[in-house]
Amino acid sequence: MRSRPYGYPILSLQDQLSSFDNHIERRLSSLCNKFSDEKAFQTLLVSGDPIIYEVYESCRPEAAGELASGLSIVHPGRVGQEYFMTKGHYHKVRDTAEVYYCIQGKGVLLMENESGDTAVEELHPGRVVYVTPRWAHRSINTGGQDLVTFFVYPANAGHDYATIDATGFRKRLLDHDGVPTIVDNHQRSECSG
Ligand code: F6R
Ligand code: ZN
Repeated sequence: MRSRPYGYPILSLQDQLSSFDNHIERRLSSLCNKFSDEKAFQTLLVSGDPIIYEVYESCRPEAAGELASGLSIVHPGRVGQEYFMTKGHYHKVRDTAEVYYCIQGKGVLLMENESGDTAVEELHPGRVVYVTPRWAHRSINTGGQDLVTFFVYPANAGHDYATIDATGFRKRLLDHDGVPTIVDNHQRSECSG
C-alpha cells in the first residue's frame, strides 16, 4: 500500500485496470432475491449469469482519517422491468458519509435510512451525490451504457449488507414504458448469494 500521496486516472477505462488494488465483479447469481421478477431472474441466470456490476478499489488501511476511493461500474440491462443495480448497503460505522461523482452514463442513487425516509438522487456526468451518514445506498443504471461513478468514503466505514438482505429497500425502480418509475417494494427481504 502506498505511503506517499498518489494520483490515478478515472476518465479512461483502459488506464483504470492497472491503477487499482482490487477489482470486484458481481454476477447476477450473487444478487439472488434482490430483483422482484424471479422468473426473469432465472431466465437471465441460465442464459449465462451476466456481470451486473464491477468495483475498482484504491484500498487504504481501515483506519480513522484514511479515505477509500474507487470506481463503481453498473452495466446496462434489466431483470424483467427492474434495472441492473448494486446490492446496496449501510456502512457498518453508521456515522460515515460517502460522495459519489458520476463520470459516465445515467442512473440514480436510491437511499433510505432506518427512520423510514427514502431519497432518490439522479446520477449523470458531472453530478455529485452526497450520501449523508446513516443512509443505505444503491446505484441503479437506468441508461443504455455503463453507469460509472467515482466514490470516496472513510476507510474505516465497513459495509453492512445484512440489514438490507433482511429488510430489502422500501422502494424499487422499474421501467414503465421507458420511464424509470419508483414503486413500493412489497417483498421486503433481499437475501443475497
Ligand atoms: C462503498 C460504496 C461503493 C459500493 C459499490 C458496490 O462504500 O458505496 O463503493 O461498494 O458501488 O455496491 P455494493 O457495495 O452495494 O455492492
Ligand atoms: Zn457505501
